[in-house]
Amino acid sequence: MSQPPRFSGSRRGQLPTPPSPYVVIKTLKQPGDGDGGACNAGIFLVRTIRHGKLRVEKRVTRQDMETRHMEREMKALKQLRGHFNICHIFGYLPRQRHPALYLEFYDLGALDTLIARYWRRSETLPHGFVGHTLLELSKALCFCVHGYVFGSGGMVPENWNAIIHRDIKPGNVFLASPSDPRALYPRIVLGDFGCSVSDIDIVNGTASALTSRQAPEFSPPEAPAYSRRSDVFQLGLTIHCMIQNLDVPDHDSISRTWEMGNPYSDPLDGILLQMLLPDPSSRPSTLHLPGIVDQHFQAFCARNAPRPLKSWAFRE
Ligand SMILES: Nc1ncnc2c1ncn2[C@@H]1O[C@H](COP(=O)(O)OP(=O)(O)OP(=O)(O)O)[C@@H](O)[C@H]1O
Ligand SMILES: [Mg+2]
Repeated sequence: MSQPPRFSGSRRGQLPTPPSPYVVIKTLKQPGDGDGGACNAGIFLVRTIRHGKLRVEKRVTRQDMETRHMEREMKALKQLRGHFNICHIFGYLPRQRHPALYLEFYDLGALDTLIARYWRRSETLPHGFVGHTLLELSKALCFCVHGYVFGSGGMVPENWNAIIHRDIKPGNVFLASPSDPRALYPRIVLGDFGCSVSDIDIVNGTASALTSRQAPEFSPPEAPAYSRRSDVFQLGLTIHCMIQNLDVPDHDSISRTWEMGNPYSDPLDGILLQMLLPDPSSRPSTLHLPGIVDQHFQAFCARNAPRPLKSWAFRE
């Protein structure tokens, strides 16, 4: 008769810990190394033992298991699986020694690192790349809230469980090498759904209707309350940081801009001001945002050839 497998770390009275099907290759973030939230117990680049595929292992803190933040992140990512601009989840292993989410690896890192590199060299990000990022993240938001894939020609689904991210900031936007070699800019991916909430979470009582831990510098004026257009405001702040080379938004400069009226001639900047309106109902809706941005971005590209990123953009 075959023996049951002997898992390491098993003790009498406890469930045995299955061995990990992954080997760690590199530490991406130490535990507690976060850019504000530190909502993980370490983030690692790993390889599957079986097929040698690269993955990201996002380890879960005991607190995140208890407060069910990690469960919400896992459920949100599973529901959103397959969208080009949303972090892809491969799996969730809650019972191993380090409970973790397994994610696709985005090889060009996070947007905050890119902004910091441009800042260090006193350079500004090309306007074309800013427009590209705004468009791609608008598509992600449209899918999160409405389940609608912009440009697919399909219908807006009924009975979609709307997901609000609530923590959009440059550190939660990941970049990847494009699979099409002709593409000028990286693929843009929205990640870190640890603060997200869905309609079902509220109905089931698994989440509070108040936001508890988003990065405070990126909070919308309605926080800790939120609406379906709160993510539009946070996306506006992220784009503002890209344009002004900032790690956190300059809220005074945004207020001054408001006092002056719209000083920008570029329509993309006009959209940005709409997104940053204090009253959520005056902001563009997530359903219409990709269409509005796309129209203006195409007009921009017709007038100005978009510039590529610098050769050093992704080097240490
Ligand atoms: N799938 C991924 N591919 C590449 N890098 C990643 C990936 N997931 C996470 N990272 C890196 O780890 C950082 C933190 O990840 P994430 O935002 O998901 O965790 P967190 O718990 O919210 O941490 P923080 O407190 O820093 O926000 C990211 O900014 C990015 O640099
Ligand atoms: Mg994060």
